[in-house]
Formats: sequence, structure tokens, C-alpha cells
Amino acid sequence: MTFILTVISGLLMWGVVVFPIDDYLPRASSAATDIDFIFRFMAFFGVPILVYVNGFLLYFAWRYHTRKGDDLMAVGSDIHDQPALEAAWTIIPSILMLILGVISYLVMPKYYLASAASVATIEAVGHTFYYEFRYPGLKHPVENEMHLPIGKQVTIDLTSSEDDIRNAVIHSFWAPEFRVKQDMIPGMIVPIHFTPTRIGTYRIICTEFCGLGHSEMVGKVVVESQADFDAWFKSQQQLQASAGMQGPIPIANGDAAAGGRVFATKCTGCHAVGPFSERKVGPGLGNLFHDPDHPDLVTGKPADPDDVADVIEHGASGDLGTMPNMQVNQLTDKDVANLVAYLESLHK
Ligand code: CUA
Repeated sequence: MTFILTVISGLLMWGVVVFPIDDYLPRASSAATDIDFIFRFMAFFGVPILVYVNGFLLYFAWRYHTRKGDDLMAVGSDIHDQPALEAAWTIIPSILMLILGVISYLVMPKYYLASAASVATIEAVGHTFYYEFRYPGLKHPVENEMHLPIGKQVTIDLTSSEDDIRNAVIHSFWAPEFRVKQDMIPGMIVPIHFTPTRIGTYRIICTEFCGLGHSEMVGKVVVESQADFDAWFKSQQQLQASAGMQGPIPIANGDAAAGGRVFATKCTGCHAVGPFSERKVGPGLGNLFHDPDHPDLVTGKPADPDDVADVIEHGASGDLGTMPNMQVNQLTDKDVANLVAYLESLHK
């Protein structure tokens, strides 16, 4: 029996090694090769455990079952301890788990830790029951269909809508061909980084049960050449302009006093109104518009009202952490205008 199970196990392990995953689930991002390796590693060593444990289980159940004429009150063999075997099945899986842990520890940070290499940051917001994608340079989000240029690293900031706080739920951003899967959580922004490596149209699937429309929450991502991407981007801009969609947030006539009240409820958890060095989570904002030592914003742009509004609108990631966008902070356009007016009025 041990020989039979060893043969079955060996064949399956060979199958795990040669199985062309790519033929069934194309590898379309920089994450895919690493993730497939981890999957193969787990499957390769999981196969013999599956085969031996279940094989012997079935074999012994058959081999030692009660037969006609057996004494029904008979007691089985009195066997205790098998130190060599017990040591082996404790130590070998422990070592495998350790190796798996180390590999995962090396791979996962590549896609989760802050990366300066990204050419663009796109915000992906889960709604009941669709995806919203916000591109820098596009005034309005696109829904359910994401476009990415091939070979360019992107950062995608994932979160979930809090427009209706009673129905704020966790969604998930799963792009199987990218081997990327991450929950979208209300009130939390999780940036992921990867490079699309294959032209094509792939699925984005919500894998977190989020309500009655969960099964219909499917988007797509189109990976295309830079030229095709530029053409798509341009067509989106034209479409949005011709549809008469509203422009950027109008920040003229902001009310500083109203902005102060918004600041007190939404911003003081992370920002003081003292000098830059007076940090809570983010820097003190008292001198935001008048600080010769820190003339630039976290975005690298000068501190003028439009760019400050842009940071409040889209959030920011800096060395101290991440500031959520206006949607996560539940700010209206008017709130943004008022906040800018308030910050301009400060001078510490
Ligand atoms: Cu959104 Cu499931």
C-alpha cells in the first residue's frame, strides 16, 4: 500500500510541477509569477500529505473492518507510541510551514509596501454593487471598466464607499489574472502596487459577500498599449466634457469659519493647526500656505489653493501614513472649498 500511495503521490507531484497554470489562467501582472510559485510550492508538498493521510485512512478502514464470524467484543491491538514516525510528521510539516512563511514574507511586501516606482495612482472604490475608478486627470470616475497601460507600474488605492454609512460594507478587489486579491474596507485605504504585463481584458470580481447584488459585482480591466491607453483616456476626457459634467471643485468663495468647523470634526484627529513640525499623524497645517521651509505639498506641488483642494479631494500617501480621500472623509465639494479657505486664513 505504501508503494501504491508513493506512486500516486509521485505522479500527482509531477503533475503539479508541469501543470501549465498559464494556459488556464493567464499571468497578466508582475505579481503572477511569484504567486504561482507559492501556489505550486504549497500544492507540491500538500499532495503527499493528502495522498498518504487519506490513502491509509481508507486502506485501514477496509483492511481492519469487522468480518463475518469475528468476535464483536474483541479488543484491537494495544499499540502505543511510534517516536520515529511521530517526530517525522511533526518536524517535516513544521519545516515546510516555515519555508512557506519565509517565501510569503519575501513576496507579499512587494505588492503592499509603499512604492515610488508607480507612474500613477488610481483610486478604486467599491460600491453596492459596482466598482468606481478615479484617475488622476479625469474629473469624473469611470465605472466598472478599468484601463491600464502595459508595462507601467501602477498603485491602486482600494477602499469602499461610505456614501451611505448604514450600508457601508466590505467589498473585494480580485483580479485573478493579476493574482491580486485585496479587501476594500470602508474608512481604510489599502494601496497595492503591480505592473500589468500582458495585453488583454481580464475580470475584477468581488469576493466578499456584500449584499444581494454581490454575485453581479464584476468589473473588467483592460490592459493595452500606451497608445491605446492614451486614446482611451482622451476619449474619456472628451466624453466627460461633452456630457457637460461638472468641472473641478469650485473653491472660490470658501467660507473660512465653516471650514474651521469641518476641520474640527474631520481633521483634528490627524492634524494640528500649529507649525509643520507639530505632528499628530500628519503634519501641523497652521503654516500650510506660508511656510518657507516646506513650500511644497505632499504631492510635490506648491501650496496653492487648487493643489491643496486636490490633496483634500483625493487624499495622499506620505512618509507618515495615508490620508483618505474626500469620499472616505465624507466631505462635500462645499466642505473642500471651505477647508481651503480656512487653511488659507491660518498663519501661525
Ligand atoms: Cu461587493 Cu461582494
